[in-house]
Amino acid sequence: MNVITTKKELRQKITEYKNKNVTIGFVPTMGFLHEGHLKLLDEARKANDIVVLSVFVNPLQFGPNEDFDSYPRNIKRDEELAKLAGVDLLFSPSVNEMYPNKPSYTVTVTSRVHVLCGRSREGHFDGVATILTKLFNLIEPNRAYFGMKDAQQVAVIDGLINEFEFPVQLEAVETIREEDGLAKSSRNVYLSEKERKQAPSIYKSLLAAKQLILQGERNKTKINHLITHIINEETDGNIDYVETLSYPDLEEVEIISGKCIIAVAVKFTGARLIDNITIEVQ
Ligand code: PAJ
Repeated sequence: MNVITTKKELRQKITEYKNKNVTIGFVPTMGFLHEGHLKLLDEARKANDIVVLSVFVNPLQFGPNEDFDSYPRNIKRDEELAKLAGVDLLFSPSVNEMYPNKPSYTVTVTSRVHVLCGRSREGHFDGVATILTKLFNLIEPNRAYFGMKDAQQVAVIDGLINEFEFPVQLEAVETIREEDGLAKSSRNVYLSEKERKQAPSIYKSLLAAKQLILQGERNKTKINHLITHIINEETDGNIDYVETLSYPDLEEVEIISGKCIIAVAVKFTGARLIDNITIEVQ
């Protein structure tokens, strides 16, 4: 596995790959790898000749009061896991390498961002779209892999790829969970013992909502109330949002139909957790 930290070396390697006419599968991450990330690497390994992993905690997508400084990092461990996962090239640049100056050009996202995390994390998806634009241009992947754990991110990247004509195929991968249902996340390590025990109630509430829909309920308000009730009863977390929207357009729906997402964000003292399920109804 090649470990590369500069754009110059990265370009050289990518040119070599392109000259050999091999396909490149790209998995962008912020590191502190867990089974969710490994699943993306697995999918990339299966479908491409070369797998490129990036590990970069992107300051542009963190708000001033968010956890950029305390975001968990462990590049040595990430390198070992990447090697075991069959990664060919690991790109882990410094902030200075990616943003030598304060950026004067950034991507502004105006659709699919006025709800869910886009509403509570202003500018977050502009930061995500900007770093991915740079990474797509540097790496020129045939396919790029993203987790449905961050379903709004998938919707925004789908728009970015379409509108900017990136010749990249977006691959959305299912959410990987702990045995008790909690979605795997780098931030889970910051939950207290008590919060960690309560956190699976988030997924439990989503499954209860799904059950209600399967029984015939189509009223969004009732579905959201059920989720809110379970989370408030079973955890000390503060609900940031509970929303049921169309997917991937993320538009408001009163009576749910077609493809929908039910998404939740809950703030615990240690970490803010998100989770969602998508469901297709008649
Ligand atoms: P990060 O949070 O490190 O996540 C990297 C990728 O792993 C994302 O596509 C995310 O959806 C996926 N992922 C995280 N947890 C998962 C889980 N439990 N199951 C399946 N996939 C999971 O998302 C980012 O980084 C950044 O915003 C990034 C896209 C790298 C841009 O900076």
